[in-house]
Amino acid sequence: MDVNDSLNSTSTTDKSTKIRFEYEDDEYIEDETIEEAPTECSNLEEDSVMCMPDDSNTDSDKTSADYYFDSYSHFGIHEEMLKDVVRTKTYQSVIYKNPFLFKDKVVLDVGAGTGILSLFCAKAGAKHVYAVECSSMADMAEEIVKLNNFSNVITVLKGKVEEIELPVAQVNIIISEWMGYFLVYENMLKTVLYARDKWLVKDGLVLPDMASLHLTAIEDADYKEDKIEFWNNVYGFDMSCIRKQALSEPLVDTVDQKQIVTNCQLLKTMDISKMAPEDATFTAPFKLVAERDDYIHALVAYFDVSFTKCHKLMGFSTGPKSRVTHWKQTVLYLEDVLTICQGEAVIGAMTVAPNKKNPRDVDIMLKYSLNGRHCQVSRTQYFRMR
Ligand SMILES: C[S@@+](CC[C@H](N)C(=O)[O-])C[C@H]1O[C@@H](n2cnc3c(N)ncnc32)[C@H](O)[C@@H]1O
Repeated sequence: MDVNDSLNSTSTTDKSTKIRFEYEDDEYIEDETIEEAPTECSNLEEDSVMCMPDDSNTDSDKTSADYYFDSYSHFGIHEEMLKDVVRTKTYQSVIYKNPFLFKDKVVLDVGAGTGILSLFCAKAGAKHVYAVECSSMADMAEEIVKLNNFSNVITVLKGKVEEIELPVAQVNIIISEWMGYFLVYENMLKTVLYARDKWLVKDGLVLPDMASLHLTAIEDADYKEDKIEFWNNVYGFDMSCIRKQALSEPLVDTVDQKQIVTNCQLLKTMDISKMAPEDATFTAPFKLVAERDDYIHALVAYFDVSFTKCHKLMGFSTGPKSRVTHWKQTVLYLEDVLTICQGEAVIGAMTVAPNKKNPRDVDIMLKYSLNGRHCQVSRTQYFRMR
């Protein structure tokens, strides 16, 4: 899932574009623009009217949750998710190739969007599907269900999973595409766990039921130079205070597997059928062993998900060695350039937690050290995915 907010969309080739939601913090930026605008257009009556702040039309009453759901109200973001064939076809195959899981079962689709997963489940023989969607895309889902003659099987419920009343006491299956960048960005996992604990029967299924986060290290001199070190000297001026900010924002982008210098290390496994919401906050140690002599400029995180209750294990990876998905990978640039020799290891630990003020953001603390022949470093860096 996710929110590659198509309004702030990235392209797979444009490494410069960061992906972010418009949260409350951004309103401040909007206000600034509004104040400056009249000077620029003060001699144009029509334009100056356009530049006047209009309280009735501002989004000042919106909360970050409103912005979050707004982003899912536009069809563009759903188009992007549906066109991610790795994502959507995996769900489709899981459902169509395992109809025994769905036959005559009551299914809850958490965050149904266009209703695609509900439609798959209905087609696979589910007895009834409750498709819960909070954004206004729920209205489209309702229409899509009618257009495809599934109104007798799929009930679309518009509202937050945490607030709606389900017409049944229990469901046999919970299906959801909740994964965000860096797996946990957006914090939608919490909603799935809430639904699981409230409605899932004792021997019920959560699909997917396993997710794992992985880490590796890459050489990325050109890009680090272009996007991070750039701020050290901008037309002869020191703007290194912005460098600090740039470094603290993980970048969502595709990584060429030729850039990988070390092994890929499993950081964390989550069993969605059993885990507690608190388990999404964790510290995991890592050891990345160099497979060649090279420089390391960044660590790269990615996730895999799997559906272990199928006839055969099914799932997909968002790693740099797999076919690209809209989640791409998450790149964390290091303060230091590490010179590493084959066999040497970067060791450390990563702490991941939802941001306290805005729990859809993710705070990451990265501790790493290298005690090599050419390089001895020990450092702690802080990142925030926003
Ligand atoms: C990643 S999209 C997946 C949409 C669809 N299931 C699909 O696979 O194309 C997640 C959807 O969940 C919805 N959502 C997120 N949190 C929700 C909540 N607490 N209650 C209801 N819907 C939610 C979002 O609005 C969004 O449409």
